[in-house]
Amino acid sequence: MKRHGVPTIFAIFGVTGDLAQKKIFPALMDLYTKKLLPEKFSITGIARRDLTPEQFKDFVREAILKKKEYAPETLNSFLDNIQYSQGQFDEKETYEQSKELFNTIDTKWGQCSNKLFYLSVPPVLYENILKQLSESGLSKPCDDENGWTRVLIEKPFGKDVVTAQKLDMLLGKLFKEEQIYRIDHYLAKQTLQNIMAFRFSNTIFEPLWNRKHVEKIDINLFENNTAEGRGAFYDANGALRDVGQNHLLQMMALIAMEQPTSLHCPLVRKERGRVFKQLKRARESDVLRAQYKGYRETEGVPDDSQTETYFSLVAYLQNRRWKNVPFNLKSGKALNKSQVQITVHFKDETPGYFMKKQFPSQECNRITISIQPEEKISILFWVKTPGFEDAVEPKELSFSFHDESSEHIDAYEKVLFDCISGDQTSFIDTEEVLYSWKYIMGVKEVIEKTTLHEYEVGADPEDIKA
Ligand code: BG6
Repeated sequence: MKRHGVPTIFAIFGVTGDLAQKKIFPALMDLYTKKLLPEKFSITGIARRDLTPEQFKDFVREAILKKKEYAPETLNSFLDNIQYSQGQFDEKETYEQSKELFNTIDTKWGQCSNKLFYLSVPPVLYENILKQLSESGLSKPCDDENGWTRVLIEKPFGKDVVTAQKLDMLLGKLFKEEQIYRIDHYLAKQTLQNIMAFRFSNTIFEPLWNRKHVEKIDINLFENNTAEGRGAFYDANGALRDVGQNHLLQMMALIAMEQPTSLHCPLVRKERGRVFKQLKRARESDVLRAQYKGYRETEGVPDDSQTETYFSLVAYLQNRRWKNVPFNLKSGKALNKSQVQITVHFKDETPGYFMKKQFPSQECNRITISIQPEEKISILFWVKTPGFEDAVEPKELSFSFHDESSEHIDAYEKVLFDCISGDQTSFIDTEEVLYSWKYIMGVKEVIEKTTLHEYEVGADPEDIKA
């Protein structure tokens, strides 16, 4: 992997927020230590808080060290590249100030730098910032060849079909598609990227990857954290919007998509989007929603909140490959574990005289893709039990990302690196946004007619039932 040569300015809006502290700065620091940031780079944090340059550096230092230790000289040399620009996001001066700052940097570097604008702010602020970026001329590239400008937008991308379309139209009006990076950080996780590699680089799995051989597919995103600390935001969204419309559907897309003819970005995105287009409208019998006990006491959550903190959804695709195969999508907070996992269960097509006798309830074969905390793939298969008997027993073949000496790459490192590289494959496109929302709004319509169940904090997701 090679660093990109052109000097780059990272402008982070909402730099004092949670995401910048927990994800963006640690990721930038890791890219720096791996020598994957351009040799000349500058990070400008933009936020409302009144901070001196030294206070801002301390703030960033602390955020980075919370995640990992670094040699003081390495950290200090990274911090030499950061600066703070205080301002209101709706005021013209904020953008004029940034423009001046960036011009000074460009003059120092003797070159028009690339500029990456990261919107790490609540979605209500997107419209204003995008318009100001455009009106101030900040988002204008130097020319066709030099000094690109790109904008990184966090999820949630809209709240429903209408708001997502509105935001997308605004982006389309102000920027070219190649400048827009809509983030779903799940797509940047190594374990998810491995799904396409695993499916399309092997001969032995793909012929079985269809309704003829697959019984069902489970996709789970379980978390033991609660909505504490982000009550108002969470309550306005709920589990379906927070992770269903994006992370879970993207996992499903990677499992269900057809093989693109190449890894060329538009082709990959088109195939993922095609999965969303083929989703069948959900029925009431396909959904279940629940809320953990005590959720309504969370700061920012109304006493009578009907927001789901857990959902389960059986999704079906209307296509030849997956007709009638249930994709069981489940996600919730305040559960007994944090685990993200996809399991492909294969039909039992064996003659039955071996395994079924001893293990009547066991399925035949299963492929489990563990996204986190484990990062591995395992295959359940059957072998003869050593000895005289004609007995069989289940065994597991597995591969773990941690077994290899390979380095760990955080999803946000990948997000930032891909954006600098101009690779939009792991970012969502307009069609993916539109069709995922269309499907999820249909789910919302039916799920809201169903009872909101309750579960204990620390519940086993298996026990959350109608
Ligand atoms: C975010 C959601 O997009 O993803 C959070 O807003 C959720 O509610 C998080 O906790 C899960 O991401 P990860 O990478 O920690 O699994």
